[in-house]
Amino acid sequence: MKPANPSRATRHYGLFDRLIMAVDGAVKGLGERPPTGVPSPADPLPDVPMSEADQRLSAAMMRVNHTGEVCAQALYSAQSAWATDPAVRAMLETAGAEELAHLDWCAGRLAELHSHPSRLDPCWFAGAYAIGTAFAAVGDDWSMGFLDETERQVVAHLDDHLGALPRTDRRSRAIVLQMQRDEARHSVTAVRHGARPLPLPLRLLMKGQAAVMKAVAARI
Ligand SMILES: [Fe+2]
Ligand SMILES: [Fe+2]
Repeated sequence: MKPANPSRATRHYGLFDRLIMAVDGAVKGLGERPPTGVPSPADPLPDVPMSEADQRLSAAMMRVNHTGEVCAQALYSAQSAWATDPAVRAMLETAGAEELAHLDWCAGRLAELHSHPSRLDPCWFAGAYAIGTAFAAVGDDWSMGFLDETERQVVAHLDDHLGALPRTDRRSRAIVLQMQRDEARHSVTAVRHGARPLPLPLRLLMKGQAAVMKAVAARI
């Protein structure tokens, strides 16, 4: 996989550069920015009318997925800003660009479902940024291990969504399916870049934190 921006990937970054990258990540995850223009997997599918209950269910699930992608922006920004190995940084930037397309797809589908992103997205972003920074600070192997575990948990979560989304909501299902494929590939790439397996208590803690985020984002 080619880095998103090869010259950026091999540059040396000082503290100021890293802070600028953090702000850039925040704007991309939360603020106004031009859309990525990456076609959504939902594009070829018809937007069929759904019952009010199904529409509410789909909206809650896609709001959770949108928040997950906001967190992905924070994690990937923090981890790439603090990565020491240029190959790790390049990998994070390339995968981060795909996460940005996921964010657009989820936002677009939420709008189609006449719903809104989680009002707590800035909080989720800040929390995820702090966690990504902490893992990146202890080393690229820990950072890749965290990424691998995160993506594995996301793949399992998206599998649950594929089972629970209304059958008629083919547009949301197409988005979730493509995101699941991409996240599985990100996990494999993290392993190839030296991911250190995380201890069980840490994996359980991540699962618990994700469960809280999912429960809250589905409602608020
Ligand atoms: Fe994603
Ligand atoms: Fe991912």
